[in-house]
Amino acid sequence: MTETFQFKLLATDGAARRGEVSMPRGTVRTPAFMPVGTVGTVKAMYLDQVRDLGADIILGNTYHLMLRPGAERVARLGGLHELIRWPWPILTDSGGFQVMSLSGLRKLDEKGVTFKSHVDGALHHMSPERSIEIQGLLDSDIQMQLDECVALPASPDEIERAMELSLRWAERCKTAFGDQPGKAMFGIVQGGDVARLRERSAQALAGLDLKGYAIGGLAVGEPQAVMLDMIATTVPHLPADRPRYLMGVGTPDDILKSVARGIDMFDCVMPTRSGRHGLAFTRRGRINLRNARHAEDMRPLDEESSCPAARDYSRAYLHHLVRANESLGGMLLTWNNLSYYQDLMAGIRKAIEEGRFADFAAETQETWARGDL
Ligand code: GUN
Repeated sequence: MTETFQFKLLATDGAARRGEVSMPRGTVRTPAFMPVGTVGTVKAMYLDQVRDLGADIILGNTYHLMLRPGAERVARLGGLHELIRWPWPILTDSGGFQVMSLSGLRKLDEKGVTFKSHVDGALHHMSPERSIEIQGLLDSDIQMQLDECVALPASPDEIERAMELSLRWAERCKTAFGDQPGKAMFGIVQGGDVARLRERSAQALAGLDLKGYAIGGLAVGEPQAVMLDMIATTVPHLPADRPRYLMGVGTPDDILKSVARGIDMFDCVMPTRSGRHGLAFTRRGRINLRNARHAEDMRPLDEESSCPAARDYSRAYLHHLVRANESLGGMLLTWNNLSYYQDLMAGIRKAIEEGRFADFAAETQETWARGDL
């Protein structure tokens, strides 16, 4: 365990990297997938299960937690880790992205963002400084700068305005965060689908000498090829000795292709949300358990999986649970999906260590394509 926040690069294979992000609460093995724990719970999972699947870090959301139960209240209750019984690292998103996607009536200017709570309609203001203050009250280990993410398609002028605003907010967040040796504040590269804006954003953030860098504003409506292009454009401008986090991504295929372009950290609601909606991720591809063809299928999702949810329950039973809207259906499928994602990350890490990442990615994709569900 370290007293300070550190990133160590252990191996590289092409642009893919195997590393470790260490901080007082634990070490995150990268490439890492961070399960999303928006309101202080990874939905439909016990955190013991999340840990047992191999998650070194989970994500929390400033926006949700400031509204309910409230940042000051979480602090009085001993901080987020204590409250939710997760003593290992937590990364918190800054709130800007969730304000845009969830709250009604919002106004954004140089000072910050004003928005109406989706919980009770109350009006709130969040400045870059307040976002960092809230993340501090939550006692988050990795805090994110407040940024503005624009949905694509958008005009280059609009993308540039939001990117430049995000850069000014990055400086203010850095100042507000100050010097906290055991914690980190990451900057967020914006710039939409415009290569020169991505380059400008990454170079300017690199100049701030932050402890880590995220790439935001992707998987917001653009084709995968555009997203991959923007990652490839951005990564060379980020310092090699700092972790790189691709926000809100993605499918297993997105993850493989982004690791190949030098990404170290991911988060996405996909395994948890789609599990609650009846979709299972498996080694051989996706299975929609709502589908009638599973009604009398006694096979498990994947007899070779290490996860009981995948191995010990029939598709017929899962189909029944999903159709009957039983909570256990969402619980079992979330368990299966997070297990699949964490096993995928473990496979990726091992492959990079052994210098066979490209082969691993190709074999994984072939197994999906073969189907044979
Ligand atoms: N989550 C997914 N994309 C983004 C982004 O661009 N900014 C922030 N803050 N969070 C995100």
